[in-house]
Amino acid sequence: MLVIQTLDELKDVLFRVKSSGKSVGFVPTMGALHDGHLSLLQRAKKENTAVVCSIFVNPVQFNNAADYTQYPRTLEKDIDYISEVADIVFAPSQEEIFPTVPTEKYHFGILESVMEGAYRPNHFNGVAIIVKRLFDWIMPDKAYFGEKDYQQLVIIKELVRELNLPVEIIGCPIVRESNGLAMSSRNKRLSPEELQIAPNIYRILQGSLSQMHLSVEGMKKYVVDEIGKISAFKLEYFEIANAETLQPVASLDEANSIIGCIALYLGSVRLIDNIMIKK
Ligand code: PAF
Repeated sequence: MLVIQTLDELKDVLFRVKSSGKSVGFVPTMGALHDGHLSLLQRAKKENTAVVCSIFVNPVQFNNAADYTQYPRTLEKDIDYISEVADIVFAPSQEEIFPTVPTEKYHFGILESVMEGAYRPNHFNGVAIIVKRLFDWIMPDKAYFGEKDYQQLVIIKELVRELNLPVEIIGCPIVRESNGLAMSSRNKRLSPEELQIAPNIYRILQGSLSQMHLSVEGMKKYVVDEIGKISAFKLEYFEIANAETLQPVASLDEANSIIGCIALYLGSVRLIDNIMIKK
């Protein structure tokens, strides 16, 4: 496995990879890698002849300075962890990626006016800036994103569609701990006590499925009430939305595929999760 830090070297190596006719599967990450990332890399390895993983904590997608500084950084461990499955790790410095303050502006309309976009102003612009740059430099055939960041996945697909980028976006299922907690780099910031509480998120999301006989409002009330019973949680939102347009639905008959998405704080750590209600 090759670890690369500069764009010049990345371009050189990728030129050789592409000239030898290899297909490139790409997994962009912010590090603090876990089995969820590993599953993306394994899928990329199955479907391509070369696998590139980027590790870069992207400052421009954080709308909260403390969240950025406290984001776990475990580069040496990460490199070891994926050495069997990635061929190239691109782990650049901030100066390499952003020698000047980026000025690109991306707009995703109604896709970003809800949920994460509403609570994290400018977040998706920051994600789009880094992902578009990485796509331009790496020119992957396929890129892999986890469904845990469901809104991000929909927005990246929209970015690719709008700009007609020559890359196929593959969404991959959420990987969970045996207790149901969705794997996330942010879990590394939870205390042992918080790690005991966190699995309740998925337990409650699953519980909402047994309330499907109720109205959408009834399902939402169930989740809000159940989350409210656990004092360590501070709910930001639970939304039931059309899984394609991300717009809230008032009835489960309103769309073919419907997703429930949640964001909450557990202590100082912000966690998100989701559950497909109707496929
Ligand atoms: O999902 C993430 O880890 C990040 O948003 C991404 C796609 C690597 C962009 O920084």
